[in-house]
Amino acid sequence: MARMKIAVLVSGRGSNMQAILDASQDASYPAEIGVVVSNIAGAPALQKASDAGVKTVTVPHKEYPDRESFDRRVTEEIEAAGCELVVLAGFMRLLSEEFCEHWRDRLINIHPSLLPSFKGLDVHERMITAGVRFGGCTVHYVRHEMDTGPIIVQAAVPVHPGDDSKKLAARILEQEHVIYPLAVKWIAEGRVRISGEVVKVSGAKAPDGALVNYLE
Ligand code: GRF
Repeated sequence: MARMKIAVLVSGRGSNMQAILDASQDASYPAEIGVVVSNIAGAPALQKASDAGVKTVTVPHKEYPDRESFDRRVTEEIEAAGCELVVLAGFMRLLSEEFCEHWRDRLINIHPSLLPSFKGLDVHERMITAGVRFGGCTVHYVRHEMDTGPIIVQAAVPVHPGDDSKKLAARILEQEHVIYPLAVKWIAEGRVRISGEVVKVSGAKAPDGALVNYLE
């Protein structure tokens, strides 16, 4: 069966893009990256993608008079590459309402917290300051308001005594690399549907049980 083509939008390091790329090296994985689009020339993610033989495009946002015209250019690139799903992976630009509506239910993001807690930036630092016992990550469909939209999958990790934001970020990132390829796989397999604003995944089972954690 033909694999679903996806576009990955990046601005930086690209470790989540790499995780999806690695998963797609297996011929049985149901999705493949058709294009990687970056708003930042020279983003490390671009090199990683070209090393893997994936098409890359840079659309420098500073060359566009407004958000809408930048976003339209990005949409053109995604459509020219024949992609059906847009995957935000460390893409550090807010997207216009027009873009979010155009790609509604075909646009996903990963965020390094258990949404709806800790939206926005400096998430790991804020979690430590707040003294939460669990952090985690969320893959969700994108709605126009930042870090909102139907949740597809989450992973939780404990916060340990002595954690700083770097240690916590590394622990969460490891799980990001697990759940992002998984979410893309489920979507490509047609298992994911949105009912109201809640996602139902059919034929996939999460482990039972509860996690309990405290700080010394
Ligand atoms: C990740 O922590 C992701 O959750 C957030 O931005 C970071 C991107 O990292 N949206 P990378 O570029 O995928 O390594």
